[in-house]
Amino acid sequence: MTVYSRIVGTGSYLPGEPVDNETLARRLAADGIETSDEWIVARTGIRQRYLAGPDVTTSQLATEAARRALDAAGLQAGDIDLIVLATSTPDWVFPSAACLVQKALGAPGCAAFDVQAVCSGFVYAMATADALIRAGNARNALVIGAETFSRILDWSDRGTCVLFGDGAGAVVLQASPEPGILASRLHADGSHESILRTAGNVSGGNITGHPFLTMDGQAVFKLAVGVLDSVARETVAAAGLELGSIDWLIPHQANVRILKSTAKKLGLPPERVVVTVDRHANTSAASVPLALDAAVRDGRIRPGHHVLMEGVGGGFTWGAVLARM
Ligand code: UT7
Repeated sequence: MTVYSRIVGTGSYLPGEPVDNETLARRLAADGIETSDEWIVARTGIRQRYLAGPDVTTSQLATEAARRALDAAGLQAGDIDLIVLATSTPDWVFPSAACLVQKALGAPGCAAFDVQAVCSGFVYAMATADALIRAGNARNALVIGAETFSRILDWSDRGTCVLFGDGAGAVVLQASPEPGILASRLHADGSHESILRTAGNVSGGNITGHPFLTMDGQAVFKLAVGVLDSVARETVAAAGLELGSIDWLIPHQANVRILKSTAKKLGLPPERVVVTVDRHANTSAASVPLALDAAVRDGRIRPGHHVLMEGVGGGFTWGAVLARM
């Protein structure tokens, strides 16, 4: 019998209270950095973001999101036999954040590892977990996107620090005789590494390189719009479907202008695009599962719907996963 994987539960978690643009602008002004609600909304559509407190880690956000996804699936931690966690902001160099989530949930023994593909991380993690389930390596997988991106922001760079937020989203992917995940496609082009990166590390007890995110926003914007279009078409075609059969498009939530332009190029009405960037800002690998969970819980996404999830980000990486819910 052919084995597929399908999403049987979603969950998400955002830390603390939202910080709106006005509040952020006031905080930055105290350090001589000038920005405004007007600029941020006009250029990005972002109105607020969530920022983790100093003691809150990526694995803690991930664990909360995972618990909610398990509840939604009606499963216990002990039922999980695979944890794949997408992040660029793990708690430590090692062990992986996935292993820390496993410990917190109390699911010892199952495979657990992190995936690092920046803002494409969640679709990379979904494609990986789907392949492991179809190969018979797992039956119930937790797939998580979680970030504390605020930790790698340069708060003196107004061109980047207003764009990002912290959070986590998760799904339970379960082996099933019915698909589920219909197709996925992943890509990377490392020749563009310099347009979006955090080019630092720890070495010999010191920070080496530049430990803060830097971005050529316009170069990223241009590439993002092109690849989100091409990989959506490629993935839908791989599933043998037409773009018209997509009920919901969930692109990486970086900029509302990118979301609108992607939908327009694909000929999809804007009402079929799930938008959370206004409320969450850009949460990198967490953005797609956060948006998915929001639209499942508010009743927009229903069983049988075709949901196309797309990631794009540092690397340069991009990819898409098409799921029948
Ligand atoms: O998650 C990975 C994927 N990331 C993305 O997809 C991000 C893609 N890029 C973007 O979304 C946009 O390029 C940005 C939102 C980052 C920037 O928008 P833009 O329309 O490309 O603006 P810009 O960088 O060309 O800056 C325009 C002006 C500049 O001033 P001058 O040189 O025209 O006088 C900036 O200095 O806006 C200024 N500026 C700001 N002003 C107020 C930059 N940041 C700010 C700010 N507040 N926060």
